[in-house]
Amino acid sequence: MSIPKGTVAITGANRGIGAAIALALARDGYRVACLARSGGVPDAGADEAVRERLLPIRCDVLDEQASAAALAQAADGAGGLVGLVNNAGLHTAAKSAELATTEYERVMAINATAVFTAARAAYPHLVRAGGGLIVNIGSFFDKLGVKRNLAYCASKAAVGAITRCLAVEWAAQNIRVVDVAPGYILTDLNRDMMAAGPLREYLDKRIPAGKPGTADEVGRLVAALYREKLDFLSGETIYIDGAQGIAH
Ligand SMILES: NC(=O)c1ccc[n+]([C@@H]2O[C@H](COP(=O)([O-])OP(=O)(O)OC[C@H]3O[C@@H](n4cnc5c(N)ncnc54)[C@H](OP(=O)(O)O)[C@@H]3O)[C@@H](O)[C@H]2O)c1
Repeated sequence: MSIPKGTVAITGANRGIGAAIALALARDGYRVACLARSGGVPDAGADEAVRERLLPIRCDVLDEQASAAALAQAADGAGGLVGLVNNAGLHTAAKSAELATTEYERVMAINATAVFTAARAAYPHLVRAGGGLIVNIGSFFDKLGVKRNLAYCASKAAVGAITRCLAVEWAAQNIRVVDVAPGYILTDLNRDMMAAGPLREYLDKRIPAGKPGTADEVGRLVAALYREKLDFLSGETIYIDGAQGIAH
């Protein structure tokens, strides 16, 4: 039994992990509202049925009003809004002693605050649909101490906390909330950093699985959460990191 086939809204669905999640859900028959600043949708190739399920909505998730309007538009379709994937995110690195408050706040705004504001805007629509599933894309950095990554780590730890609080508070409304926390996945977010070089060599040794993951793997994990309607799974952080986060 799967989550009913209404619309799932995904933030930052135009590229990277968000695009892979959008395609995986559209292949499973969901209408997918792709919220992106560019208004673009991922490339569905020759699959016309999948292409038709991808609804482009131009939206900057830092703009609360735009975000609320985008989610209302997403909910206006057969079956209503049955899910939200908070994927849009930003990674920056700086020495903590030199990290500007504005930069810290910029990372927190998109990676953490927007997760809360989009979930709050989705809430009435999910209630109207009889419940649903919110997936927040966190990171395995949520539990690690990483040099030059204070803002990113704090923001992703906040995603875990937001996930737990919403899961407890909205369970009575039949809304489940799960944090999917990837390890290193090759995307635009880290392409330069991960290009051949010392970091890549270090990671290939450091990741027990021997290499970074793919956006497609994260997409298929999220699609599985919608496909398998696991009513007792909520509030948890699920790591998909090739075992790096637990390795000694
Ligand atoms: N890649 C990894 O190794 C990795 C590991 C752990 C967690 N993650 C998390 O996975 C998520 C996706 O990462 P990614 O690697 O796919 O990143 P990416 O390739 O850099 O893509 C980031 C996405 O976020 C969107 N975005 C950023 N700011 C936005 C805003 N204000 N409003 C709407 N959309 C916005 C971007 O849209 P635009 O095109 O409009 O910029 C883009 O679609 C992030 O939350 C990231 O922290 C990634």
